[in-house]
Amino acid sequence: MDKNRPQSGAAPQLPGAVLFDAYGTLFDVYSVGLLAEQLFPGEGQALGVLWRDKQIEYTRLVTTSKRGPQRESVYQPFWALTQAGLRYACKRLGLTLTLDAEQQLMNQYRHLSAFPENREVLKALKARGIATGILSNGDPEMLGIAVRSAGLEGLLDHVLSVDSIRQYKTHPDAYALGAEAVGLPASQVVFVSCNSWDALGATWFGYQTLWVNRYNLPFEELGTQPVRTGSDLRDVLAFFDR
Ligand code: LAC
Repeated sequence: MDKNRPQSGAAPQLPGAVLFDAYGTLFDVYSVGLLAEQLFPGEGQALGVLWRDKQIEYTRLVTTSKRGPQRESVYQPFWALTQAGLRYACKRLGLTLTLDAEQQLMNQYRHLSAFPENREVLKALKARGIATGILSNGDPEMLGIAVRSAGLEGLLDHVLSVDSIRQYKTHPDAYALGAEAVGLPASQVVFVSCNSWDALGATWFGYQTLWVNRYNLPFEELGTQPVRTGSDLRDVLAFFDR
């Protein structure tokens, strides 16, 4: 008999930690859309979406590519890719991005709104003795400011940035940072993301996953589903219901 398998009737082990993606999950990346709309009337939403898509595309480009015969890394920190994504998106939409507008939008990105249920969910997890953390593509400075602006400092045990390994999610080494930090196998850790590609990468890696489908979107069509799907962060508490 496989002694690792729960005996019939025995409850499976509850997860010991919850890790959250940051941008799009704890912090609302489309909240820059309001400022973008003021700066570029009629184009704010399109700019917000294209900016985000390009930023994520660039993370993949620099993670999967190398330069020259020595295969040098082409990694750039998330802040630089975010700025590059903004410049690209403006050019693509035919918008003139002045230095002042760029500074305003980048500054807004530093201080993104946090989704309103964040604090109560983190508090509820802490009350149950569950370790909590962020595992993000964001660089440490960006994450530090975002966490402080949202008043989440005391509620997170770990703020993990892929910058330490210079590989963006969905690279498995990026996901591995989380399990290593909490000292648990991925199968005993819940990973929460609103980004379907991130929820998929984390599921492939071996985390228990919650995809928070805030915008009523289809999940990725690659044959793997997240462990759970919810509509806001409160749904993570279902992993601990007995
Ligand atoms: C992050 C981005 C991908 O925080 O949302 O990792």
